[in-house]
Amino acid sequence: MIKPYKLSNKHFLSNIDLSKDEVIFLLKLAKSFKNTDLEFNFKNKVLGLIFDKSSTRTRVSFQVAMQRLGGTTIELNPNTSQIGRGELIKDTARVLNRYCDALAIRTFKHTTLEEYAKWSSKPIINALTDTEHPCQALADFLTIQEEFGDFNNAILTFIGDSNNVANSLILCGAILGVEVRIACPKGYSPNPQVIQKAKEINKSDKLLKIFNDPNTAVKGANVLYTDVWSSMGEESKKEVKDKDFNGYTIDQNLINQANKDAIVLHCLPAYRGKEISENVMESEKSRIFEQAENRMHVQQALLSCLLS
Ligand code: CP
Ligand code: NVA
Repeated sequence: MIKPYKLSNKHFLSNIDLSKDEVIFLLKLAKSFKNTDLEFNFKNKVLGLIFDKSSTRTRVSFQVAMQRLGGTTIELNPNTSQIGRGELIKDTARVLNRYCDALAIRTFKHTTLEEYAKWSSKPIINALTDTEHPCQALADFLTIQEEFGDFNNAILTFIGDSNNVANSLILCGAILGVEVRIACPKGYSPNPQVIQKAKEINKSDKLLKIFNDPNTAVKGANVLYTDVWSSMGEESKKEVKDKDFNGYTIDQNLINQANKDAIVLHCLPAYRGKEISENVMESEKSRIFEQAENRMHVQQALLSCLLS
């Protein structure tokens, strides 16, 4: 029987905190959690949730994952705790890690998360920052593996904004050796630091490709992925970005140019008619809701290792 083990890093702030073997192991463990009732007794274990931004999937999937492991969660609303009144992270972290066994944090700046990790003796989990969404990427690659059996022939084209979700796909793709293509308008290319990190992880220059033309980017691809054009915190940029991303919708026309076996992913929430058409969203190509379900299974696997 597959058993969780202690990961090499205490925290999970980024996919690059995991080795390739650890990613593969977590996906396998997630699959076991999905298919079987692995017995767990995390009776007195508590996961604290700090969400500075909205969430449906991440919040609930962490709550249910922890419950399935026999543990509990406690939600710290920043507005009703002292966090929202400016208590220092170094004080908050050192108090909370005396009550909680791990903290999952969704916030704006990645440096905020790093500050928690610096002061916390218990695992800190990235539940999304402006720059990365690593739990999402684990669920995405599990969904791809379920579809194709392995990653050998997978080519993932992300169409849209080079945001937190795209960054995590780039990094996790580099770890797994999967070709990731980003199709974005000029001026919206991925963060050079993320590109640099991906290149350090995987020297092959065939793995990460940047395109401005989505039609070219989907040729030969069997995973088409998109996310909102304006992320949380970018509300003031929405009007400009809606114009700039015109032509970057995953619609039937784009699907027709990809591989015949191509599937469509979206981390959700989706804006139909913007980054994805209603037809594609509801088509047989979509694995979007399987992908959403997989959030829970990978997080159950992640928690079982981080708390072991
Ligand atoms: N995909 C995702 O993280 O969704 P939520 O914002 O609802 O958590
Ligand atoms: N890029 C999106 C992802 C939401 C899950 C955002 O940050 O709002």
